[in-house]
Amino acid sequence: MAEAPRKLAGGKLVLASHNAGKLRELRALLTPHGIEVVSAGELGLPEPEETGTTFEENAAIKALAAATATSLPALADDSGVMIAALGGAPGVYTADWAITADGSRDYAAAMARVAEEAEGSPDRRAAFVSVLALAWPDGHVQFYHGRSDGQWVYPPRGTQGFGYDPLFIPEGDTRTYGEMPPADKALTNHRARAFAQFEAGALGG
Ligand code: IMP
Repeated sequence: MAEAPRKLAGGKLVLASHNAGKLRELRALLTPHGIEVVSAGELGLPEPEETGTTFEENAAIKALAAATATSLPALADDSGVMIAALGGAPGVYTADWAITADGSRDYAAAMARVAEEAEGSPDRRAAFVSVLALAWPDGHVQFYHGRSDGQWVYPPRGTQGFGYDPLFIPEGDTRTYGEMPPADKALTNHRARAFAQFEAGALGG
C-alpha cells in the first residue's frame, strides 16, 4: 500500500538550490511559516548533475542529494519555460539554453534563441512550469506542481526578477514578470502555485 503523504514536523528545511532567484522566492514564501531555512550553498553542498529528462526527475535528484547529505528534509524546484511554437522547448532544458562556452549563464542570449527559433510562428503561447520535490533522508519524495500560462514577447522587457522573466507575460496582465515587483509576480507564478500545493500537502492541518 502506498505511504500516506508526510507532513514536515518543524525544524530545519534545506532549500536544495544554488539559483539566487529561486531561493529569494522560496524564502519569501516560507517566511510566514516560521520554518528554519538553510540553502544548499550555505551548507557547502555541491550542485548535483541534472541527468533526468523530466522536471520531476531533476527535482527529485536535487532534493534527495541534499536530504541524504544533511540528514534533513530538503525542498528542490525544477522549472522551465515551455514555448508552444517550439513544441514545449526549451522545457526541462531551459537552464541549458543559457549556458555559454565558458560555462557561465547568458539569459539575454537564451531569450534571443527562443525568439529566433519561434520567429516564424504566429503562436505566442508560453508557460512556466515548476515541480517542487520534498525529500527526506530515508529516500521518500513528494511532488507539488505549478504552472503559469501566458505568452512570450521579444525584445525582453524589464529588469526585475531573474532568468527568462523579461520574456514572459502571464495571462491577465500586460507586464512581463521582468516588469513586475516580486509581490505581483508571486500572485500568478508557477513556483508560488506549486508552493500553495506544498503548503496544503506538507504544512497544512
Ligand atoms: P533548473 O530548474 O535548475 O533546471 O533551471 C530552471 C531554468 O528555468 C533556469 O534557467 C531559470 O532561469 C528558468 N526559470 C525557472 N523559473 C523561472 C522564473 O520564475 N523566472 C524566470 N526564469 C525561470
